[in-house]
Amino acid sequence: MDENIVWHNYAVDKAQRSEHKRHKPCVLWFTGYSGSGKSTVAGALESALHQQGVHTYLLDGDNVRHGLCKDLGFSDADRVENIRRVGELSKLMADAGLVVLTAFISPFRAERDMVRELLADGEFIEVFLDTPLDVCEQRDPKGLYKKARAGEIKHFTGIDSDYQVPSNPEVRLDTSKNTLQQSVEQLVEYLKTRNIIG
Ligand code: PPS
Repeated sequence: MDENIVWHNYAVDKAQRSEHKRHKPCVLWFTGYSGSGKSTVAGALESALHQQGVHTYLLDGDNVRHGLCKDLGFSDADRVENIRRVGELSKLMADAGLVVLTAFISPFRAERDMVRELLADGEFIEVFLDTPLDVCEQRDPKGLYKKARAGEIKHFTGIDSDYQVPSNPEVRLDTSKNTLQQSVEQLVEYLKTRNIIG
């Protein structure tokens, strides 16, 4: 960091911004294989929270790669940079008082832990979509596993690129066993237990 760049504290801080809301800020960090249900569950949870008057924002891997991260591919280094940017963005959104939902494969433990460290205690909620790889591959909603098996996509997560399973996630979901409704209820219950929502 350049020594001439000095952090400026403003009078209005996160706690004061949150006073205008009926919930606490947090980042629900969905991680798992492609096709594991990250976007589906995050989207359904966002709808449920929105109906209850919670101010949310959903950051989605495919969507962010159309803009903020459109210069990045799927090498290990690019995935690290992708998650670094999204982590910093999530922190800013939590600072604004929002309940942030992120849906990124985020395959590496070190980067997920880096985002955890960026946030205040209890603000980072790691949601592991523990859907078995063979189920994700059978679903193949975008036909990407088929292309990866045919060698048409390189560095595909679970095929020829690593996914490091979370060691101690706050929430674990297996969408091959639970319905979408059950997953949403499990997450809403978690947020209530932690007094993030009322
Ligand atoms: S990462 O690893 O967190 O940086 O990936 P992410 O930004 O979440 O992007 C994952 C989506 O990109 C599509 N896609 C690939 N995924 C994995 N590996 C390779 N090589 C790849 N190429 C394209 C895919 O649609 C992922 O979306 P999801 O929603 O996970 O299926």
